[in-house]
Amino acid sequence: MKKKILAIQGSFRNNGLTSSMLDFAVTESKKAGYEVEYIRLHDHTIGYCRGCRKCFETGECVVKDDDMTWISKSIKNADVIILAAPVYWANVPAIVKNLFDRMSGTSMEETDTFPKPRLSGKRYILLTACNTPMPFAVLFGQTTGLIRAVKEYFKTSGFSCIGTVVCDNTIKLNKVPEAKVKKIIKLIGKI
Ligand SMILES: Cc1cc2nc3c(=O)[nH]c(=O)nc-3n(C[C@H](O)[C@H](O)[C@H](O)COP(=O)(O)O)c2cc1C
Repeated sequence: MKKKILAIQGSFRNNGLTSSMLDFAVTESKKAGYEVEYIRLHDHTIGYCRGCRKCFETGECVVKDDDMTWISKSIKNADVIILAAPVYWANVPAIVKNLFDRMSGTSMEETDTFPKPRLSGKRYILLTACNTPMPFAVLFGQTTGLIRAVKEYFKTSGFSCIGTVVCDNTIKLNKVPEAKVKKIIKLIGKI
């Protein structure tokens, strides 16, 4: 059976660095014969998590009248998620954080001890970008902040990481550098 890839675009900017990184990943995934679904989060209505905690019992969000109903199904159906998200305040953009919040109970079950993943066996690739140049992006916790937050969601949900590509110093870039494109292609090869 064809592997199912879900590409999630977490930046508002359609012609930005992260959306461009995702485009390379999607093109390569299609070339490899994978089934690809693409979701640009900003095209959809995703209300805030209400913190009611019902989802931890039922595995489903109580809010049924927005786009998370089908987006959560797409996440559950995917073998691999490719998440593209720029660094905002050393973290993910709010819409991506809100996606993680709304996915809480779909992704893991609370127990008396450690959380139990509900999406075990899936994998993810993270594509990110930031203005801060290396090594400062790491030294000042910019990219590391985002990577930690993304790992927290995926690891607790049962995903393992295929790899991460970071484009730093984006203020000086008008396109994704060739070396980063090669790294993206290499990661798609590992699917
Ligand atoms: C609200 C906001 C917050 C940002 N916070 C950071 C930050 O904490 N560190 C950083 O290096 N760049 C930060 N940036 C810069 C973006 O990460 C950078 O411009 C990135 O390339 C944007 O990705 P995009 O082209 O896909 O939109 C921020 C940009 C915005 C709009």
